[in-house]
Amino acid sequence: MKVAITGAAGLFGRGLVQVFSGRHEVYPLTREDADITVAEQVQAAFKKIRPDVVIHPAGIPDLDVCEAEPAKAYLVNVHGTRHVAEAARGVGAGVAYISTDAVFDGKKTSPYLETDPTNPPTVYGRTKVRAEKLVQGLPRHWIFRVSVLFGPGKTNIIERALRNIMTGKEFDVASDQLGLATYTLDAGLKIKEIIKKAQCGVYHLGNQEQCTRLDLVRQAAKLAGLDSKRIMGKPADQMGRRAVRLKYSVMELGALKSAGIPLPRPWQEALAEYVPTLLALLRLKAHEGAHS
Ligand SMILES: NC(=O)c1ccc[n+]([C@@H]2O[C@H](COP(=O)([O-])OP(=O)(O)OC[C@H]3O[C@@H](n4cnc5c(N)ncnc54)[C@H](OP(=O)(O)O)[C@@H]3O)[C@@H](O)[C@H]2O)c1
Repeated sequence: MKVAITGAAGLFGRGLVQVFSGRHEVYPLTREDADITVAEQVQAAFKKIRPDVVIHPAGIPDLDVCEAEPAKAYLVNVHGTRHVAEAARGVGAGVAYISTDAVFDGKKTSPYLETDPTNPPTVYGRTKVRAEKLVQGLPRHWIFRVSVLFGPGKTNIIERALRNIMTGKEFDVASDQLGLATYTLDAGLKIKEIIKKAQCGVYHLGNQEQCTRLDLVRQAAKLAGLDSKRIMGKPADQMGRRAVRLKYSVMELGALKSAGIPLPRPWQEALAEYVPTLLALLRLKAHEGAHS
């Protein structure tokens, strides 16, 4: 199968390229290959590749950037996705769109189902809802809602936390946002499985067991043998951020269960796999920095 992956230089894009390579013919697309805000560039890329499936994580994932620059957020996240969907339709490709738990309102106290109404309080969330709807207009589509990504290839919350405390600094992180965490390589494997055998539709996707961001980075620090007391938990609304944060965005992995697909392992196990390689990389960089 020919698989084109947008946002291939991004955190999830890199994980997806890694997971899909080998068994599939993978075409990583960076901004230089095709700027998704320019319809002709996306069409030209897809006409050349003629993919069977396009996986589309490209976008602006930063809630505060989206809140500060709504026009840019709509241009990239909504119109960019429209261009990807239309170009995919033109070559008969299915689209797997990477969405987010931020489509919800955060007011529930039990896990969000795929069928629950969306009602995001942020610009980012509203752009992702609009983009989901555009992709749902395609005959072959999958929507994967992920949350709090971590994994190899690009900086992420775990990498930032460990880098800070390794250099003697403290790291502030929200203590009151309960949700799922998503190891990019685990999520990539599930996407591969679903595209192969499960029906189109909306899928919640993350590692099992809920956690706060504080739980996640404290556990990473412990696994790394670093001083987890340097990780400072704070209420999200005291962190000086522009966009509101959801206090509760745990997602039920209902569609995965219904499709009979084994659920991703708990986040603690994924973290235990990821942290040693990250730590080795950070130590190497610190060593190179000290000798340059
Ligand atoms: N990160 C999270 O915790 C999280 C949580 C839930 C959902 N998500 C969703 O997951 C997806 C991937 O997130 P991520 O963390 O991997 O983001 P990321 O690391 O910022 O990657 C996004 C990629 O999109 C590319 N991009 C941005 N504008 C573009 C344009 N106009 N044309 C072509 N490419 C463009 C970026 O290219 P450059 O490298 O050139 O900037 C970047 O490589 C996003 O759709 C996000 O909404 C992320």
